[in-house]
Formats: sequence, C-alpha cells, structure tokens
Amino acid sequence: MKKLKAAIVGCGRISACYEDAFHRLSDYVELTYAVDKDPQKAKTFADKFHCSWTTNFLEILEKQIDVVHLCLPHYLHPTMAIAAMEAGIHVLTEKPIAITLQDADRMIAVQAKTGVKLGVIFQTRYTKSVEKLKEMICRGDFGKILTARSSLTWNRPRDYYAGNDWKGTWEKEGGGVLIDQAIHSIDRVRYLLGSDVEWIQGSIHNYYHDFVRVEDCADAAVMFQNGCLYNLYACNLYAADSPITIELLGEKGRCGLIQDMGFYELDGCYTEIRNTYETTSVGPDYWGSSHHLQIRDFYESILHDTAVSVDGTEGRKTLEIVKGIYLSSMKNQRVYLPFEDVAYADLGQAVKNSITEKDKQ
Ligand SMILES: NC(=O)c1ccc[n+]([C@@H]2O[C@H](COP(=O)([O-])OP(=O)(O)OC[C@H]3O[C@@H](n4cnc5c(N)ncnc54)[C@H](O)[C@@H]3O)[C@@H](O)[C@H]2O)c1
Repeated sequence: MKKLKAAIVGCGRISACYEDAFHRLSDYVELTYAVDKDPQKAKTFADKFHCSWTTNFLEILEKQIDVVHLCLPHYLHPTMAIAAMEAGIHVLTEKPIAITLQDADRMIAVQAKTGVKLGVIFQTRYTKSVEKLKEMICRGDFGKILTARSSLTWNRPRDYYAGNDWKGTWEKEGGGVLIDQAIHSIDRVRYLLGSDVEWIQGSIHNYYHDFVRVEDCADAAVMFQNGCLYNLYACNLYAADSPITIELLGEKGRCGLIQDMGFYELDGCYTEIRNTYETTSVGPDYWGSSHHLQIRDFYESILHDTAVSVDGTEGRKTLEIVKGIYLSSMKNQRVYLPFEDVAYADLGQAVKNSITEKDKQ
C-alpha cells in the first residue's frame, strides 16, 4: 500500500492524540513535517518521527505532502485549510470546522472546486457504543425518537485559559463551553438522530469565569425536522469533569451514553455497551481514545477515493447548532434554519451585557 505523506500543523495539547495515531497507523502514513509557530514544539514533535519541522506553514505547501492535519486555534482552521486544499492537499481539521458559517461555506466550496478530501474531527462518534446505538436507531428498535437530552458539567479553571492567546475569546476560539467542549455531545446527538434542524432556542451566560468574555454555561432546545425535541445543558464551572450524559427516548425504549459507555432499555431490560480499547487514552479521559479510528477512516477515503464520513458539510451542520444558540441568545428569540451568521463583537457584547444586567439586579 502506498503510504500517505502527512504533516501536522499545531503541536499543542491535542497533538498527543496524533502522535499516538501516527504510530498506530504506520502502515498508512509517514509523517514528513511537523509545523508549529513555536520552534521548540515543532522540533520536539518532529524528533519523535525523525521528520522535518518548520515554523512556517506555507513552506509545506510545496513539499509533495498528501494530507495535512490541522490542530490549531479555531480561527486559523479556514485560512490554513483553504491554502492547503488549493495546493492539492487533503485536509483533516480538528473541530470546529471554523468559527463562522461563512468560513465553513468557503472551505466546503474550495473542497468542491479542488476535489481533495476535507474532514472534520469528531472522534467521539468513533466508538463501539455509538456505532451500535446508531445501528439500533436506524433499524427502528426504539421506534420514533421523540426527545433527546445531553448534559455536560465540566471544570475549566483559570489556568486552562491562561498561557495562550486564543482560549476564552470570541475572535479566536469563537465562543466558550459550547463551541469547544459541548460540541462533541451536540454532534453525537445530531449524528444519532440523523436529522436536520428546524429551529433553535437557547441562552448563554458567563456566571463564573469573569476573566473571559465567552460563555461558561448554556442551555437550549433544538427542534429537529424529524420532530425530535433535543434539550441540552452545558457548563464548565462545575468543580470537576463529570461524565457527559446523553439520552434519546423513543416510542419503544430509550438509549444513550454515559461518557463513552452506551446503554439501552427495551421491554424493561437494561443493557450496557462497553467499549474495548486497545490501550488507555493518551490524553484526558474526555478526549476518548478514538482519534486514530477517525484518522484511519479518513486515510481510507483518500486511498480508495470514497466519501469522507465526517466531511465539511457534516462539520458545518454541528457548528450551525452552536451558532444558532449564540444567535438565539443574542436576539432572545427562536432562530429558524437557515439563518445568517453574525459578527462576534455583538455576541461578546451580549454576554457582557447579560452579566451587567444580572449584576444590577
Ligand atoms: N477532538 C478533541 O477532543 C479535541 C481536544 C482538544 C483540542 N481539540 C482541538 O485541537 C485544536 C488545538 O487545540 P489545543 O488544545 O491543542 O490548542 P493548543 O493551544 O495547545 O495548541 C495549538 C498549537 O498551535 C500553534 N499555532 C498557533 N498559531 C500557529 C500558526 N500560525 N502556525 C503554526 N502553529 C500555530 C500553537 O503554538 C500551539 O502549539 C483546536 O481546534 C481544539 O478545538 C480537540
């Protein structure tokens, strides 16, 4: 099998999952470049694979690379993805695809024009439990899914935001707990339901993280076109990272996830689906151990020229729910899809105002 030549751009926290994946997938891939604006980070990553490194992303566009992995601050995903695709390089970017729907659209358009593959990492879809539940829901085991809920109560302390220039900013991260942490639960619910969204109503707050302007708490109702009403809650001001819970309630039973463990209840019988991992997770538990599975799936789609499972359009659909909650909160009204995405300065102001108004009461 021809090995793909890959580059990783961004050798920060999440790069540990890629280091693990490149080792596991050594039959598929040869890492040829590690890129980071911090030379020490680029060199340290490159040394593990005896490959080249650079601080200048543009340099790798002329190096006969097949695939680039973007592990960057959110706002950089579109510019770098578009430059790589225009140079004929396949792109697998970390979530979220972008911080605006307009940028996501530009990425999708360039992908269509160039014909290269574009994928978005949502590795939490790639577990045995999600696979099994998806199969059961599609088969109609639970009947029509009437309602769904997800809850994320995590902790992101001050030092999580300190030491970098992008976390906790509307301009570079694109939001807070929703776009960064809860996006995985939103994506899993949307994927399991397999339906598009009709409307979104939600609100965001900053209750505790007074050193950043993005939201640390959010709740929303999301109506899917198949009639399922999804209720979500997310906050990162809890004292610890509790297991994420997701539940889908159907006419004939219910199913869901507690962190990555699946469960279902049919005819009064409760069953758990436990994932089997080859090794323990390389990062915090909440990252899971599935990056290598999605990366392998993406490589397979390049090698066999097949459709990408989580492509730009899929990435955009999940981003659209996040952005719909921000817009709904800002306008204080229900948002119907499609809607026009709006400027971040307004949203930043909305959060600031909500704190000010609360403080005044
Ligand atoms: N899938 C998951 O579960 C998961 C978990 C954590 C992070 N992520 C995603 O991974 C991405 C990176 O997050 P992180 O936590 O690793 O962030 P990080 O800040 O630790 O790493 C980002 C890296 O990008 C580098 N960088 C910044 N600008 C650059 C430029 N112009 N050129 C080259 N390098 C540049 C920084 O020096 C840094 O090393 C984000 O999209 C984030 O959402 C995903």
